[in-house]
Amino acid sequence: MKKSSYDNDLFLRAARGEKTERPPVWLMRQAGRILPQYRALRASLSGFIELVTSPDLAAEVTVQPVDELGVDAAIIFSDILVIPEALGLPYNMVEKVGPRFPEVIKSKADFAKLRPAEAAPDHLGYVYDALDATKMLLNNRVPLIGFAGAPWTIFAYMVEGGGSKTFSKARAMLYREPELSHLLMEKIARATAAYLKGKIKHGADLIQLFDSWAGVLPPAHYEEFSLRYLRLIIDELGGVVPVTVFAKDARHAIPGIGQLNCDVIQLDWIADPAVARQQAPGKVLQGNLDPVQLYAPLAEVETATLAMLERFGPHHIANLGHGVYPDTPLDGVKTFVNTVKSFRY
Ligand code: CP3
Repeated sequence: MKKSSYDNDLFLRAARGEKTERPPVWLMRQAGRILPQYRALRASLSGFIELVTSPDLAAEVTVQPVDELGVDAAIIFSDILVIPEALGLPYNMVEKVGPRFPEVIKSKADFAKLRPAEAAPDHLGYVYDALDATKMLLNNRVPLIGFAGAPWTIFAYMVEGGGSKTFSKARAMLYREPELSHLLMEKIARATAAYLKGKIKHGADLIQLFDSWAGVLPPAHYEEFSLRYLRLIIDELGGVVPVTVFAKDARHAIPGIGQLNCDVIQLDWIADPAVARQQAPGKVLQGNLDPVQLYAPLAEVETATLAMLERFGPHHIANLGHGVYPDTPLDGVKTFVNTVKSFRY
């Protein structure tokens, strides 16, 4: 694994399974969403995509939570949907609605129009530039997390065309056209692996894979269509940096994820860390305070955070059980972070 020297390397030491004096802490979706500084910047722009594709601004937003909250890691401001875009399927971010794809993959003919997987990084230079700019701003204070969507979650958007409660169109393709589904999944996985290798080259110290829609797949489909392609990506990366996997709402998947060559497993807030420890021995666990807990009175946020730290014990990276919600009170977020930072094993 790559050697690093940071003023604060707690996050990387914990991710590699080393014993630390306290757990490191960061929040999924900490870049953007919660900070007033982010909202002010965002309001001055045409939209989310302008921010994602402007490296200096993306770097600024990435570093804001490090300055403002004192978290132990930064996560690059970007989105999982840059991969479909790089493959030739652009998205819009519709205010108060979320991502929408004007065109989707319905057939083999649609699939054939996509760019080759190896070409994806050529269309993602703006992300690499954002990483370079972020490394300058961070100036070795804390490590930088790079990320991507898991192939199933990206497939779900490319076939469905946007968010959905059921993802029934995307799931129907798995049943009706398994061969086409595998072709698309493999293309996404290969593009993602190539993209992530570039992110690592541009300074990402750990990679987190987000399988946000893992929870809608039955276990057999999870194994066949998701786990298999997570494995492809992780094996392709070859252990040069630690990897974290998050399969939201898919507790049944933890034993399978435990068999992957990853270092860290993120748990959602329903998952029981004691069960996960048994099912995935040797992995570091990340999570898993209920994001809505941060709306409670501050004394309760502190008590709940401490109880969570006790439940996990060592080999833990403190985080929420999903991304921090946009209207979370900033005081709740700060209490969460500060409670972890004053804790000692
Ligand atoms: O963690 C971070 O702070 C880094 C940045 C990051 C964003 N998206 C920025 C963003 C990360 C890691 C993501 C991942 C992402 N994007 C996921 C997986 C994680 C999860 O939450 O389950 C998913 C499913 C997406 C797709 C996506 N992007 C949706 C559904 C939306 C709209 C709703 C929302 O706010 O999440 C986005 C837009 C988006 N991505 C915003 C941000 C800060 C909101 C942009 C804005 O309007 O300012």
